[in-house]
Amino acid sequence: MAMSRRKLIAGNWKMNLGAAEATMLAAAVKSIQANADLAVFPSFVFLNSVQQILAGSAVSVGAQNCCAYDNGAYTGEVSAAMLASMQIPWVLIGHSERREYFGDTPAGLKRKLELALAAGVKPVFCCGEPLAIREKGTQEAYVLEQLQQSLFGLSAAQMQQVTLAYEPIWAIGTGLTATPQQAQDMHAFIRKSLAQQYGAEVAAQTRILYGGSCKPDNAAALFACPDVDGGLIGGASLKAADFAAIAAAV
Ligand code: PGA
Repeated sequence: MAMSRRKLIAGNWKMNLGAAEATMLAAAVKSIQANADLAVFPSFVFLNSVQQILAGSAVSVGAQNCCAYDNGAYTGEVSAAMLASMQIPWVLIGHSERREYFGDTPAGLKRKLELALAAGVKPVFCCGEPLAIREKGTQEAYVLEQLQQSLFGLSAAQMQQVTLAYEPIWAIGTGLTATPQQAQDMHAFIRKSLAQQYGAEVAAQTRILYGGSCKPDNAAALFACPDVDGGLIGGASLKAADFAAIAAAV
């Protein structure tokens, strides 16, 4: 069944780059061809220009967040419906930095998932444990709770539109990557949990990306794991050559 999952390499640009740099990076990744789906997630303010540059290429565009409320009086926010109106196909939901610094709660993430799916924007739902939990060895229970609280309210049909990203917090931006075995163990656990909730078929179809200091020199070993269906790439996605090398590792 793993054969039926095409890998996805997604670049999370986070709150980096100015307009000129974002345009240059988009132009530089535009020509990447890989044996995988490709996407970049720029800041909201660059979505339109990056999307225009990447039109007709193999690289699609996603947003890093959306609002937990529908349209209306929510100053400073961006709704999933707005993303849909811009033909943005993807949105990251529940990145650990959103949870840590911007008060994203499990209940709020559940609403974001529902709004994104209702608007027709495909969520990339992020989960992953902090270092203290990994050191205690309770990472599976921790991640399962994240899935149960935000994701498992969705129907099986909705779940088929969702991509997961496992991002151990201790590996994000630290240069400390999960070993391929650590990644594979957690991805297999997540897939088993999906199978229990949604059945084997949905679990087998769902892509689970790895994120956390994924670089050109460790990408191939991570992507070779049977349950790792690609990567969510932060720092290395800001360099076109590194992003291309990671995509070529598929
Ligand atoms: P990193 O970030 O690759 O810089 O560790 C990954 C992420 O947070 O998506």
